Parts: sequence; structure tokens; C-alpha cells
Amino acid sequence: MVKEEDLVALAHPEYWNERYILEQKAQNGDKSVLGAYEWLSTFETLRPLLAKYLPSSSHNPHILHLGCGNSSLTADLYSLGYTNQTSIDFAPFVIDAMKAKYASLDTRWLYMDARHTSFPDASIDVAIDKSTLDAMMHGSQWDPPDDVRENVGKYVDEVGRVLKPGGQFLCITYRQPHFIKPLLRREKLWTLDLEVLSGSASFDYFVFVMKRL
Ligand SMILES: C[S@@+](CC[C@H](N)C(=O)[O-])C[C@H]1O[C@@H](n2cnc3c(N)ncnc32)[C@H](O)[C@@H]1O
Repeated sequence: MVKEEDLVALAHPEYWNERYILEQKAQNGDKSVLGAYEWLSTFETLRPLLAKYLPSSSHNPHILHLGCGNSSLTADLYSLGYTNQTSIDFAPFVIDAMKAKYASLDTRWLYMDARHTSFPDASIDVAIDKSTLDAMMHGSQWDPPDDVRENVGKYVDEVGRVLKPGGQFLCITYRQPHFIKPLLRREKLWTLDLEVLSGSASFDYFVFVMKRL
């Protein structure tokens, strides 16, 4: 059973920064390059879903990774021709490490809080969250505490602000839809659909697909 205080820590950059520093220290072999860690789903499992929702790479869509961590998703999409990508995280260590690791890719890595970004209104075609919203949640899922409602509210509103009309927000979560759906619902802002991601893991994950009106 995960302790409540441990879940609370996940909403703070200090926790994640320290975690990435320790992760790199614990690596065997080449310690100068941070290895990858993938939350919830591998690229291969996600690939059919991404193929269904991402615009063709020939349209050069601007893809924003929200809380990129040390996932290989940016590099995997790059290898499919998606070169216009920005990956943000509020843990500075991981952004520096990813910038160094993927220096050969022409993409942007920015130390930034997803609740208050510096992107212009309507500038992003696709925003991807893989377990970042999950990290903002603790306490009762039936009746989330005020800080969770406030953080998630700011985050979701910010994604809505930066998405272009017709742009999409793909939110991949392990949490049950009946808890997440009310937090993502914005009837005047976007349509909301749900996909189930069944991979090799022993239980399913969920992908909310929001399309900006
Ligand atoms: C569970 S990890 C997921 C990492 C990555 N998306 C993946 O799939 O492997 C959550 C990540 O979100 C970042 N994060 C959490 N809240 C954030 C926020 N408000 N702004 C930016 N990054 C945030 C954390 O630093 C961490 O890297």
C-alpha cells in the first residue's frame, strides 16, 4: 500500500529531481547518459493509438510532451518523422540529461511547469501526457483534496489554452475513468473520448482523447 505522504510528494518537482539524480547514480555501465524509464506503456504498445490520432508527420505538427521524464517517446516519434517536438518537465535534472542525451535530435527540451507554460495561445497541435496527471493526484479519488483540484484544474486549463482549434490532448492514465473524466471534462473547450490500452501489462490503462473545439 502506497502511503499518502508518498503520493503527495509526487506533485512536487523536488521529489522528481532527486529521483532522476538517484536513477542516474544507480545505473550500471555508462553513467554519463541517463537511461530510459517508461511509465505505463512502451512505445510499441502505444503505437497503434498514436497512428490513429496523430496528424501525419508530413504536416509537421507541433507535439508537446507534458512531464516527459526520461521516456523515449520523443525520440521514438522523431524516428517516425515527427521533428517538431517540445518536451517539458519541472525537474531540471531530467531536462538537462535529456537535452544532452538527445543532442543530435532537432527538438526542444524545456524546464517548465505544465501548469504555467510560456507557449502562446493556440500554438500546439498535439499535447501528450503519459502518467503526468497521475502524479498530481493523491487523497480521496471520490472527493479530491483542494490542492489536487487546484493543480489539476490549472494544468488542464493550461493545456486547453495552448492547443490549436482541432488540436488534441492525449492523456494516458492508470486511474479509473470515473475519477479522471470529471477532471478533464470541459464541455465548451473540447470533445472527450476514451480508449482502453491493453498491452502486455496485467491490467488496462486508459487514454482520454480531447479534441479542441
Ligand atoms: C510518472 S512520470 C512520467 C514520465 C513520462 N511521461 C513517462 O511516461 O515515462 C511524471 C513526470 O511528470 C513530471 N511532472 C509532474 N508534474 C509536473 C508539472 N506540473 N509540470 C511539469 N512536469 C511535471 C515529473 O517530473 C515526472 O517526470
